[in-house]
Amino acid sequence: MNNLGDQSALRLVVVSNRLPFTAATKDGRLVFHASPGGLVSGLSAYLESYTQSPSNRDYLWVGWPGIEVGEESQEKLRSKAAKQHASPVFLDTKTMEGFYHGFCNNTIWPLFHYFPTYAKFDENDWSQYVKVNEAFRDSLIKIVQPNDTIWVHDYHLMLLPQLLREKMPDLPIGFFLHTPFPSYDVFRTLPTRWRRAILEGILGADLVGFHTIDYTQHFLRCILRILGIEHNFGQVLIDGERAVKVATFPMGVNYGQIRDSVKSDAVQQETQAQRAKLGNPKIVLSLDRLDYTKGIKHRLEAYATFLERYPQWLRRVVLMLSVVPSRLGSEHYEQMKEEIDKLVGRINGRFGAIDWSPIVYRYRFLPYHQLLSLLAMCDVALVTPLRDGMNLIAKEYVASRADQRGVLILSEMAGASRELGEALIINPNDESEIVDALKTALEMSEEEQVRRNQVMQSRLGRYDVIRWGQDFTGKLHSVKDQQRKFSARLMDKPTRERLIREYTNSENRILLLDYDGTLSPFKERPETAVPGAILLATLNALAEDPRNNLVIVSGRHRDLLHKWFGPLSIGIVAEHGAWIREKDKDWLPAIKVESNWKEKVRPRFFKTASRSK
Ligand code: F6P
Repeated sequence: MNNLGDQSALRLVVVSNRLPFTAATKDGRLVFHASPGGLVSGLSAYLESYTQSPSNRDYLWVGWPGIEVGEESQEKLRSKAAKQHASPVFLDTKTMEGFYHGFCNNTIWPLFHYFPTYAKFDENDWSQYVKVNEAFRDSLIKIVQPNDTIWVHDYHLMLLPQLLREKMPDLPIGFFLHTPFPSYDVFRTLPTRWRRAILEGILGADLVGFHTIDYTQHFLRCILRILGIEHNFGQVLIDGERAVKVATFPMGVNYGQIRDSVKSDAVQQETQAQRAKLGNPKIVLSLDRLDYTKGIKHRLEAYATFLERYPQWLRRVVLMLSVVPSRLGSEHYEQMKEEIDKLVGRINGRFGAIDWSPIVYRYRFLPYHQLLSLLAMCDVALVTPLRDGMNLIAKEYVASRADQRGVLILSEMAGASRELGEALIINPNDESEIVDALKTALEMSEEEQVRRNQVMQSRLGRYDVIRWGQDFTGKLHSVKDQQRKFSARLMDKPTRERLIREYTNSENRILLLDYDGTLSPFKERPETAVPGAILLATLNALAEDPRNNLVIVSGRHRDLLHKWFGPLSIGIVAEHGAWIREKDKDWLPAIKVESNWKEKVRPRFFKTASRSK
């Protein structure tokens, strides 16, 4: 049920650099096409399901339309966008040059994908990055309504959560990164000011999500080493009061919809037409956006070695190489395109014959049904990125296997490899691993193919992109509820007066005082929360009143509490109640603590840990 009229229902505002559609000019007119990439396809699927829930009202997608739009055309674009639940942020070409081609594509993208030698550190690009994040904030401030939840996406907008938090302190904000988050040693190569601002920017969110546990841990390590902020099971305390959760949410695919679509007439017809053109060879698929992180050259070289080493496969196999144009005009992308063209020509020239081309190469945007038919018609998918945040093509390929046949060869450097362990997992830097995997895949029995795909399909079906989105937004709301529950509330006047009255009139009082967060504020480093002279004098004064029984209750170690409060005539409960010192008496254990069980479980832990490596 759609709740458009109910203002108490929730509205989700998704913010990403790109809108789900990209505008372009053709013959002086504005034309639109669907934006490429996993972020857009995944999120669109989730949002379609969003308004089905009765507690959700509507959604809005805020982003850049892909080109500079003159003032005269902005209204047209705005109304086109409104029909698709979208709101454009207009930015001029010069700003986008420094922001998008500069800081996003030439600094963050190479660094986060472990290509540090490609990374440029340009002060002007950084200032454009700050400026665009501020422009997004300014647009959002005008749009945000009560009951909105904001979900910021990806590396283009890492400063935005904190910029919004400064203006709207109570707003529920989530942040999700679609790329890898690199290890501390790589992240630290960013200039000090920038790396601090990026981490602080992300921590403006209430919930921060990553695709894999590794990326989550890298981020937590970076905030410790760079900002000095510790975490407790992914929970981070900002300024001693705002709890932020950092967690892992592996993005899924629209499993049910892919399963239905591959059976549709449009996809079936396209698949049959392609098959008829190619004849009967086995088809290996290579499908990516043009990017040096995707390992396309390594893959082509490995394919050439495969044909050389196993000539029995000549004429019996075809590589469908589909490359989707991307980041045109950027240095490394143009150069890479030329290298791929040359390599394809060389391989086809060397191994091909009049009636057989080892590689069928296409360089163009793919409509969705063509993409699906490509996935559906292939016997093997060769997904071998050098580094990839997730790689949804690998998941889409597995989902598209209606008859459960087909083999996925997957790079261990893709986030998806964490969930698709039944694929043939390879290291893309080791050519012989790709060559061997190709042979294994092409010769694999059907029973084995089905066995592997069945397991992966049931996993992908369980945690699809809709579950992913629900999981993230659900967690965001529960973090927000927790914050509200634990946030300090000022005592109102009547309550305070009653408390004082009852205290004054009573003859026998017990005062149970918690330490951290009560007698002392929470500190990022708990060892610095030492009681000061004023606190000690106050406690002493209270303890001297014979009508008072003072007890400090804490989770801290008894030795430390004894050092701080030992001389006072008060009771102390330490280590979450495990040790008690009654007023003017010695410490006694409250429970018998046995630790021999640890020896029994330890070997099991080690065994499980070594199996999962
Ligand atoms: O990998 C994260 C991602 O946002 C993809 O969804 C998208 O394909 C890419 O990065 C960015 O592409 P572009 O530069 O074309 O916006």
